[in-house]
Amino acid sequence: MSKEIRSITDLPGVGPATANKLIEAGYATIEAIAVATPQELSAAAGIPITTAQRIIKAAREALDIRFKTALEVKKERLQTRKITTGSRNLDDLLGGGVETRTITEFFGEFGSGKTQICHQLAVNVQLPKDKGGLSEEGKVAKAVYIDTEGTFRWERIEAMSKRWGLDPDEVMSNIYYIRAINSDHQIAIVDELFNLVPKENIKLVVVDSVTSHFRAEYPGRENLAARQQKLNKHLHQLSRLAEIYDLAVVITNQVMAKPDVFYGDPTQPVGGHVLYHAPGVRVQLRKSRGNKRIARIIDAPHLPEGEAVFVITDYGIADPED
Ligand code: GTP
Ligand code: MG
Repeated sequence: MSKEIRSITDLPGVGPATANKLIEAGYATIEAIAVATPQELSAAAGIPITTAQRIIKAAREALDIRFKTALEVKKERLQTRKITTGSRNLDDLLGGGVETRTITEFFGEFGSGKTQICHQLAVNVQLPKDKGGLSEEGKVAKAVYIDTEGTFRWERIEAMSKRWGLDPDEVMSNIYYIRAINSDHQIAIVDELFNLVPKENIKLVVVDSVTSHFRAEYPGRENLAARQQKLNKHLHQLSRLAEIYDLAVVITNQVMAKPDVFYGDPTQPVGGHVLYHAPGVRVQLRKSRGNKRIARIIDAPHLPEGEAVFVITDYGIADPED
Protein backbone atom coordinates (compact mmCIF):
# COMPACT_ATOMS: atom_id res chain seq x y z
CA MET A 1 0.00 0.00 0.00
CA SER A 2 1.28 3.46 -0.76
CA LYS A 3 2.66 5.27 2.25
CA GLU A 4 0.06 8.02 2.13
CA ILE A 5 -3.13 5.96 2.25
CA ARG A 6 -3.40 4.04 5.49
CA SER A 7 -6.99 4.46 6.56
CA ILE A 8 -10.17 5.45 4.81
CA THR A 9 -9.84 9.10 5.83
CA ASP A 10 -6.66 9.26 3.72
CA LEU A 11 -8.72 8.60 0.59
CA PRO A 12 -9.44 11.67 -1.54
CA GLY A 13 -12.99 12.93 -0.97
CA VAL A 14 -13.40 11.21 2.42
CA GLY A 15 -13.73 13.78 5.18
CA PRO A 16 -14.63 12.95 8.78
CA ALA A 17 -18.40 13.03 8.15
CA THR A 18 -18.22 10.76 5.10
CA ALA A 19 -15.79 8.48 6.95
CA ASN A 20 -18.26 8.07 9.79
CA LYS A 21 -21.07 7.19 7.41
CA LEU A 22 -18.86 4.69 5.62
CA ILE A 23 -17.75 3.05 8.85
CA GLU A 24 -21.35 2.83 10.09
CA ALA A 25 -22.35 1.15 6.84
CA GLY A 26 -19.55 -1.41 7.26
CA TYR A 27 -16.93 0.14 4.99
CA ALA A 28 -14.31 0.62 7.69
CA THR A 29 -11.25 -0.49 5.75
CA ILE A 30 -9.57 0.31 2.45
CA GLU A 31 -10.17 -3.33 1.48
CA ALA A 32 -13.91 -3.06 2.01
CA ILE A 33 -14.06 0.06 -0.14
CA ALA A 34 -11.86 -1.43 -2.85
CA VAL A 35 -14.34 -4.23 -3.47
CA ALA A 36 -17.51 -2.10 -3.20
CA THR A 37 -19.51 -0.83 -6.18
CA PRO A 38 -19.94 2.93 -6.71
CA GLN A 39 -23.71 2.49 -6.28
CA GLU A 40 -23.36 0.79 -2.87
CA LEU A 41 -20.91 3.33 -1.61
CA SER A 42 -22.91 6.27 -2.89
CA ALA A 43 -26.05 5.01 -1.15
CA ALA A 44 -24.21 4.17 2.07
CA ALA A 45 -22.43 7.48 2.48
CA GLY A 46 -24.82 9.80 0.67
CA ILE A 47 -22.18 10.93 -1.79
CA PRO A 48 -22.43 11.39 -5.57
CA ILE A 49 -21.64 8.33 -7.70
CA THR A 50 -18.68 10.11 -9.27
CA THR A 51 -17.14 10.75 -5.85
CA ALA A 52 -17.73 7.11 -4.94
CA GLN A 53 -15.98 6.05 -8.13
CA ARG A 54 -13.00 8.21 -7.29
CA ILE A 55 -12.80 6.82 -3.76
CA ILE A 56 -12.94 3.22 -4.99
CA LYS A 57 -10.27 3.86 -7.59
CA ALA A 58 -7.95 5.35 -4.97
CA ALA A 59 -8.57 2.41 -2.62
CA ARG A 60 -7.72 -0.07 -5.38
CA GLU A 61 -4.56 1.78 -6.29
CA ALA A 62 -3.55 1.91 -2.63
CA LEU A 63 -3.92 -1.85 -2.42
CA ASP A 64 -2.12 -2.40 -5.69
CA ILE A 65 -5.08 -4.25 -7.21
CA ARG A 66 -4.33 -4.14 -10.92
CA PHE A 67 -2.96 -6.26 -13.71
CA LYS A 68 0.71 -7.07 -13.25
CA THR A 69 3.06 -8.64 -15.73
CA ALA A 70 4.43 -12.08 -14.90
CA LEU A 71 7.83 -10.42 -14.58
CA GLU A 72 6.50 -8.11 -11.87
CA VAL A 73 5.05 -11.14 -10.09
CA LYS A 74 8.44 -12.85 -10.30
CA LYS A 75 10.22 -9.82 -8.87
CA GLU A 76 7.73 -9.57 -6.00
CA ARG A 77 8.12 -13.26 -5.17
CA LEU A 78 11.89 -12.97 -5.18
CA GLN A 79 11.62 -10.24 -2.56
CA THR A 80 10.04 -12.72 -0.15
CA ARG A 81 12.21 -12.91 2.93
CA LYS A 82 12.65 -15.48 5.66
CA ILE A 83 12.94 -15.51 9.43
CA THR A 84 15.05 -18.20 11.05
CA THR A 85 13.30 -20.45 13.57
CA GLY A 86 16.49 -20.98 15.56
CA SER A 87 16.77 -24.54 14.25
CA ARG A 88 18.62 -25.18 10.98
CA ASN A 89 16.72 -28.43 10.54
CA LEU A 90 13.38 -26.65 10.77
CA ASP A 91 14.61 -23.79 8.57
CA ASP A 92 15.67 -26.26 5.88
CA LEU A 93 12.28 -27.95 6.01
CA LEU A 94 10.65 -24.53 5.52
CA GLY A 95 12.90 -23.72 2.59
CA GLY A 96 15.02 -21.28 4.61
CA GLY A 97 12.71 -20.16 7.41
CA VAL A 98 9.30 -18.59 7.95
CA GLU A 99 8.40 -16.56 4.87
CA THR A 100 7.01 -13.07 4.57
CA ARG A 101 3.93 -12.44 2.41
CA THR A 102 2.29 -15.61 3.62
CA ILE A 103 0.61 -17.31 6.57
CA THR A 104 2.48 -20.12 8.27
CA GLU A 105 0.37 -22.36 10.47
CA PHE A 106 1.91 -24.50 13.20
CA PHE A 107 -0.55 -27.14 14.36
CA GLY A 108 -0.18 -29.95 16.83
CA GLU A 109 -1.14 -31.28 20.22
CA PHE A 110 -0.55 -29.47 23.55
CA GLY A 111 3.10 -29.10 24.42
CA SER A 112 4.24 -29.72 20.85
CA GLY A 113 6.07 -26.38 20.75
CA LYS A 114 3.68 -24.02 18.94
CA THR A 115 3.90 -21.24 21.52
CA GLN A 116 7.66 -21.64 21.96
CA ILE A 117 8.17 -21.22 18.21
CA CYS A 118 6.03 -18.06 18.27
CA HIS A 119 8.15 -16.59 21.08
CA GLN A 120 11.33 -17.49 19.26
CA LEU A 121 10.19 -15.89 16.00
CA ALA A 122 9.19 -12.67 17.79
CA VAL A 123 12.82 -12.45 18.92
CA ASN A 124 14.45 -13.71 15.73
CA VAL A 125 12.62 -11.31 13.40
CA GLN A 126 14.61 -8.57 15.11
CA LEU A 127 17.97 -10.04 14.15
CA PRO A 128 19.88 -8.44 11.28
CA LYS A 129 19.42 -10.01 7.85
CA ASP A 130 22.72 -11.89 7.86
CA LYS A 131 21.70 -13.55 11.15
CA GLY A 132 18.31 -14.69 9.87
CA GLY A 133 16.13 -11.75 10.89
CA LEU A 134 14.49 -8.92 8.98
CA SER A 135 16.11 -5.88 10.59
CA GLU A 136 17.92 -3.50 8.30
CA GLU A 137 20.57 -0.90 8.97
CA GLY A 138 18.95 1.53 11.44
CA LYS A 139 15.49 -0.05 11.06
CA VAL A 140 14.51 -2.77 13.50
CA ALA A 141 11.93 -5.32 12.37
CA LYS A 142 9.27 -5.55 15.06
CA ALA A 143 6.62 -8.09 16.03
CA VAL A 144 2.96 -8.09 17.05
CA TYR A 145 1.91 -10.88 19.40
CA ILE A 146 -1.81 -11.60 19.64
CA ASP A 147 -2.33 -13.97 22.56
CA THR A 148 -5.71 -15.66 22.89
CA GLU A 149 -4.81 -18.14 25.61
CA GLY A 150 -2.71 -16.09 28.01
CA THR A 151 0.39 -18.18 27.50
CA PHE A 152 2.82 -15.40 26.53
CA ARG A 153 5.84 -15.29 28.88
CA TRP A 154 8.25 -12.37 28.83
CA GLU A 155 10.74 -14.55 30.68
CA ARG A 156 11.05 -16.71 27.58
CA ILE A 157 11.66 -13.65 25.39
CA GLU A 158 14.39 -12.60 27.79
CA ALA A 159 16.09 -16.00 27.68
CA MET A 160 15.81 -16.25 23.90
CA SER A 161 17.24 -12.74 23.43
CA LYS A 162 20.27 -13.49 25.57
CA ARG A 163 21.05 -16.46 23.38
CA TRP A 164 21.78 -14.08 20.48
CA GLY A 165 23.51 -11.50 22.64
CA LEU A 166 20.61 -9.05 22.20
CA ASP A 167 19.52 -6.63 24.91
CA PRO A 168 16.36 -8.33 26.30
CA ASP A 169 14.66 -5.05 27.26
CA GLU A 170 15.23 -3.66 23.80
CA VAL A 171 13.87 -6.84 22.21
CA MET A 172 10.81 -6.72 24.46
CA SER A 173 10.16 -3.09 23.61
CA ASN A 174 9.87 -4.14 19.96
CA ILE A 175 7.18 -6.73 20.60
CA TYR A 176 3.64 -5.34 20.72
CA TYR A 177 1.63 -7.69 22.89
CA ILE A 178 -2.14 -7.86 23.13
CA ARG A 179 -4.50 -10.32 24.75
CA ALA A 180 -7.54 -10.99 22.56
CA ILE A 181 -10.55 -11.56 24.80
CA ASN A 182 -12.91 -13.08 22.26
CA SER A 183 -13.16 -13.75 18.54
CA ASP A 184 -14.69 -10.34 17.73
CA HIS A 185 -11.84 -8.65 19.57
CA GLN A 186 -9.32 -10.83 17.76
CA ILE A 187 -10.79 -9.75 14.41
CA ALA A 188 -10.89 -6.08 15.43
CA ILE A 189 -7.22 -6.22 16.45
CA VAL A 190 -6.24 -7.43 13.00
CA ASP A 191 -8.31 -4.67 11.36
CA GLU A 192 -6.48 -2.17 13.55
CA LEU A 193 -3.13 -3.59 12.42
CA PHE A 194 -3.64 -2.02 9.00
CA ASN A 195 -2.94 1.26 10.84
CA LEU A 196 -0.20 0.14 13.23
CA VAL A 197 1.89 -2.02 10.92
CA PRO A 198 3.10 0.63 8.46
CA LYS A 199 3.91 3.06 11.29
CA GLU A 200 6.06 0.64 13.27
CA ASN A 201 7.88 -1.53 10.71
CA ILE A 202 6.13 -4.66 11.93
CA LYS A 203 7.51 -7.68 10.06
CA LEU A 204 5.88 -10.49 12.05
CA VAL A 205 2.33 -10.95 13.28
CA VAL A 206 1.69 -13.89 15.61
CA VAL A 207 -1.79 -15.19 16.49
CA ASP A 208 -1.46 -17.83 19.22
CA SER A 209 -3.88 -19.54 18.89
CA VAL A 210 -5.99 -18.50 15.96
CA THR A 211 -8.76 -21.02 16.64
CA SER A 212 -9.33 -21.25 20.41
CA HIS A 213 -11.92 -18.44 20.73
CA PHE A 214 -13.76 -19.58 17.62
CA ARG A 215 -13.94 -23.15 18.90
CA ALA A 216 -15.20 -22.04 22.31
CA GLU A 217 -17.78 -19.61 20.94
CA TYR A 218 -19.11 -21.80 18.14
CA PRO A 219 -19.22 -25.31 19.60
CA GLY A 220 -20.69 -28.31 17.89
CA ARG A 221 -21.60 -29.29 14.39
CA GLU A 222 -24.58 -26.96 14.19
CA ASN A 223 -22.27 -23.93 14.51
CA LEU A 224 -19.56 -25.18 12.20
CA ALA A 225 -20.66 -23.23 9.12
CA ALA A 226 -20.96 -19.92 10.98
CA ARG A 227 -17.61 -20.46 12.72
CA GLN A 228 -15.89 -21.34 9.49
CA GLN A 229 -17.26 -18.32 7.68
CA LYS A 230 -16.07 -15.94 10.36
CA LEU A 231 -12.70 -17.63 10.63
CA ASN A 232 -12.21 -17.54 6.87
CA LYS A 233 -12.78 -13.79 6.83
CA HIS A 234 -10.27 -13.39 9.63
CA LEU A 235 -7.68 -15.49 7.80
CA HIS A 236 -8.29 -13.54 4.64
CA GLN A 237 -7.57 -10.29 6.49
CA LEU A 238 -4.35 -11.79 7.86
CA SER A 239 -3.29 -12.91 4.44
CA ARG A 240 -3.96 -9.44 2.96
CA LEU A 241 -1.86 -7.97 5.76
CA ALA A 242 1.01 -10.33 4.96
CA GLU A 243 0.90 -9.49 1.28
CA ILE A 244 0.43 -5.75 1.46
CA TYR A 245 3.13 -5.13 4.04
CA ASP A 246 5.55 -7.91 3.11
CA LEU A 247 5.41 -9.43 6.57
CA ALA A 248 5.20 -12.93 8.02
CA VAL A 249 1.99 -14.08 9.67
CA VAL A 250 2.34 -17.04 12.03
CA ILE A 251 -0.74 -18.73 13.47
CA THR A 252 -1.13 -21.71 15.74
CA ASN A 253 -3.88 -24.28 15.95
CA GLN A 254 -4.18 -26.91 18.65
CA VAL A 255 -5.29 -30.30 17.46
CA MET A 256 -5.73 -33.41 19.52
CA ALA A 257 -3.39 -36.32 19.07
CA LYS A 258 -5.59 -39.29 18.33
CA PRO A 259 -3.44 -42.37 17.84
CA ASP A 260 -6.59 -44.48 17.77
CA VAL A 261 -8.03 -42.66 14.82
CA PHE A 262 -9.08 -45.29 12.33
CA TYR A 263 -10.52 -43.19 9.54
CA GLY A 264 -9.11 -40.55 7.23
CA ASP A 265 -5.60 -39.18 7.11
CA PRO A 266 -3.94 -39.08 10.56
CA THR A 267 -1.80 -36.11 9.48
CA GLN A 268 -4.88 -33.93 9.13
CA PRO A 269 -6.07 -32.08 12.21
CA VAL A 270 -8.87 -34.00 13.84
CA GLY A 271 -11.89 -32.00 14.94
CA GLY A 272 -12.46 -29.86 11.88
CA HIS A 273 -10.38 -28.78 8.95
CA VAL A 274 -10.66 -25.23 10.14
CA LEU A 275 -7.75 -23.83 8.18
CA TYR A 276 -7.98 -26.14 5.27
CA HIS A 277 -8.81 -23.56 2.64
CA ALA A 278 -6.55 -20.80 3.90
CA PRO A 279 -3.44 -19.99 1.89
CA GLY A 280 0.04 -20.54 3.23
CA VAL A 281 2.31 -23.15 4.71
CA ARG A 282 1.05 -25.74 7.18
CA VAL A 283 3.46 -27.34 9.61
CA GLN A 284 2.48 -30.25 11.80
CA LEU A 285 4.33 -30.61 15.11
CA ARG A 286 4.63 -33.81 17.11
CA LYS A 287 6.16 -34.59 20.47
CA SER A 288 9.04 -37.00 20.51
CA ARG A 289 11.35 -38.21 23.25
CA GLY A 290 12.26 -35.61 25.93
CA ASN A 291 12.62 -32.13 24.52
CA LYS A 292 12.66 -33.37 20.92
CA ARG A 293 9.91 -32.34 18.52
CA ILE A 294 9.20 -33.44 14.96
CA ALA A 295 7.96 -31.06 12.29
CA ARG A 296 6.42 -32.01 8.98
CA ILE A 297 5.06 -29.88 6.14
CA ILE A 298 1.59 -30.73 4.93
CA ASP A 299 0.35 -30.09 1.39
CA ALA A 300 3.21 -27.95 0.08
CA PRO A 301 4.58 -29.36 -3.17
CA HIS A 302 7.14 -26.53 -3.46
CA LEU A 303 8.84 -27.47 -0.17
CA PRO A 304 11.10 -30.43 0.54
CA GLU A 305 9.45 -33.61 1.79
CA GLY A 306 10.35 -35.28 5.01
CA GLU A 307 10.58 -34.32 8.63
CA ALA A 308 12.76 -32.12 10.77
CA VAL A 309 13.76 -32.81 14.35
CA PHE A 310 14.31 -29.83 16.65
CA VAL A 311 14.54 -29.33 20.40
CA ILE A 312 13.03 -26.89 22.90
CA THR A 313 15.74 -25.71 25.29
CA ASP A 314 16.03 -23.12 28.06
CA TYR A 315 17.35 -20.68 25.46
CA GLY A 316 14.76 -21.53 22.81
CA ILE A 317 14.27 -23.51 19.62
CA ALA A 318 17.46 -25.28 18.52
CA ASP A 319 18.85 -28.37 16.80
CA PRO A 320 19.47 -31.60 18.73
CA GLU A 321 23.15 -31.42 17.77
CA ASP A 322 23.64 -27.88 19.15
P1 GTP B 1 -0.59 -25.75 23.72
O1 GTP B 1 -0.62 -24.27 23.64
O2 GTP B 1 -0.95 -26.26 25.06
O3 GTP B 1 -1.39 -26.40 22.63
O4 GTP B 1 0.93 -26.25 23.50
P2 GTP B 1 2.08 -25.63 22.60
O5 GTP B 1 2.21 -26.42 21.37
O6 GTP B 1 1.92 -24.17 22.46
O7 GTP B 1 3.34 -25.96 23.49
P3 GTP B 1 4.48 -24.96 23.98
O8 GTP B 1 5.09 -24.25 22.87
O9 GTP B 1 3.94 -24.17 25.10
O10 GTP B 1 5.54 -26.00 24.47
C1 GTP B 1 5.59 -26.35 25.80
C2 GTP B 1 6.86 -27.14 25.98
O11 GTP B 1 7.99 -26.27 25.77
C3 GTP B 1 6.96 -27.63 27.36
O12 GTP B 1 6.39 -28.92 27.43
C4 GTP B 1 8.42 -27.65 27.60
O13 GTP B 1 8.91 -28.90 27.16
C5 GTP B 1 8.98 -26.60 26.68
N1 GTP B 1 9.38 -25.40 27.42
C6 GTP B 1 8.63 -24.33 27.75
N2 GTP B 1 9.33 -23.45 28.47
C7 GTP B 1 10.57 -23.97 28.59
C8 GTP B 1 11.77 -23.53 29.24
O14 GTP B 1 11.83 -22.47 29.85
N3 GTP B 1 12.86 -24.36 29.15
C9 GTP B 1 12.82 -25.51 28.46
N4 GTP B 1 13.92 -26.27 28.41
N5 GTP B 1 11.71 -25.95 27.87
C10 GTP B 1 10.60 -25.20 27.92
MG1 MG C 1 0.52 -22.80 23.14
